[in-house]
Amino acid sequence: NGELLSWQGDLSSVFSPVCVRNGEQPEPVLLGQTPLLDAQAALQALDAAVSAYDLGRGPWPTMPVLERIQHVETFLELMQQKRDDVIRLLMWEIGKPYKDAAKEFDRTSDYIRDTIDALKQQDRDASHFVIEQGTLGKIRRVPVGVALCMGPFNYPLNETFTTLIPALIMGNTVIFKPAKYGVLLIRPLLQAFRDSFPPGVINVIYGRGRETVGVLMESGKVDLFAFIGTNKGASDLKKMHPKPHRLRAVLGLDAKNPAIVMADADMKRTVSECVAGALSFNGQRCTALKILFVHRSRVDEFVQQFVSAVEALPIGMPWQEGVAITPLPEPGKTDFLQQLVDDACQQGARICNQSGGEHCATLFRPAVLYPVTAAMRVYDEEQFGPVIPIVPFDDIQQAIDYVIHSNFGQQLSLFGQNPQQLGELVDRFSNQVGRININSQCQRGPDSFPFNGRKDSAEGTLSVIDALRQFSTPTVVAAKYQ
Ligand code: G3H
Repeated sequence: NGELLSWQGDLSSVFSPVCVRNGEQPEPVLLGQTPLLDAQAALQALDAAVSAYDLGRGPWPTMPVLERIQHVETFLELMQQKRDDVIRLLMWEIGKPYKDAAKEFDRTSDYIRDTIDALKQQDRDASHFVIEQGTLGKIRRVPVGVALCMGPFNYPLNETFTTLIPALIMGNTVIFKPAKYGVLLIRPLLQAFRDSFPPGVINVIYGRGRETVGVLMESGKVDLFAFIGTNKGASDLKKMHPKPHRLRAVLGLDAKNPAIVMADADMKRTVSECVAGALSFNGQRCTALKILFVHRSRVDEFVQQFVSAVEALPIGMPWQEGVAITPLPEPGKTDFLQQLVDDACQQGARICNQSGGEHCATLFRPAVLYPVTAAMRVYDEEQFGPVIPIVPFDDIQQAIDYVIHSNFGQQLSLFGQNPQQLGELVDRFSNQVGRININSQCQRGPDSFPFNGRKDSAEGTLSVIDALRQFSTPTVVAAKYQ
């Protein structure tokens, strides 16, 4: 991306969600600027990726696997040197608390290392022949083509790299558009990209969706679309591809993961998992618990303990020790959350915690809403923020119906102690969601576990091993020997 250094066109300003008081009004801090590419510049990046791939004949897709791995190892080494810069930007750009920002960086390094190890193992396995029914076969995995990788603002490094790295290491060439918020933190890594990969193999683009990724999709030259974000974003872009049947999509999308708390749940553990599950990084995780169904016989106890735990969460700036609730990076987010809270309150829910829902500039105090009913927006709509609806139930069927009729199907959590009941629910839900968590919050990790979802929540599966498959395609060489 050397050419971007000499970019003469429009620039876009990047503001921090962290505000400073300037007179009466809190104002966001200006962090920097990024190029606002036009369609022509985006197409140049595409041409670079297309030529480097060269219909599968380029040096990168044809490079021996172990050699390609060395490039990724070099990148990992150079990336390590930028650890502090990236962590600082994660705090400033998206308001991620220091501890979580450091975890995001280290998890990404581990992910790259594990990917390298898994591919080395896969390469060893691929040297074996398969013998079946008189046929001698050898299966090799080849790249898919030109990949467009786009990540979300909440994990702008980690989730993006869970597609970017497998795409590269499997021999695809890549166009990478960083998340809208969490864009500057890629900057310290640009030199590492340049020093680790041949020209054209990875191309970073910035700018408005329509003029950049929209144009790339319309060109029909994108073979693989790896996108973590909203359903709308993914489907709008997919529709632009002139031959959607030739586009492989790996998508991580919206979710509304429920927790179901049974009458026999261990309350202390349940509350602690539900608080972490609903409010880690302000609830801005696709895997966050976004609605809590609690058996009526335990709901008062649950609400009381949950509220105490929420009221104890420290609110502040990302660099403050132990902080839990921090500024929200998406403009207009506090208004949206306020609307969800107002709607629920107008229809009979109350805010149970002290100062819940109060907000100033980009800080929003978590709002615990109870009792929530199906008539309220927050029952079905994804909040992706610190608003927690609690629904009492008398009959477990209400929670089962919720899962079955939901448009989403990423994960759910079950809290209870009766193995038979848990087992029956696991059987009921196995074809409804990608993961069922027993007595623990929803989450993606460990990264060796398949991460996917049903219905509108995902397409394809990610994990260290699954991603290697997702970003490549098997070719069989077969010979009859009888
Ligand atoms: O935002 C969606 C992420 O995949 C959540 O990942 O469960 O590790 O926080 P996590």
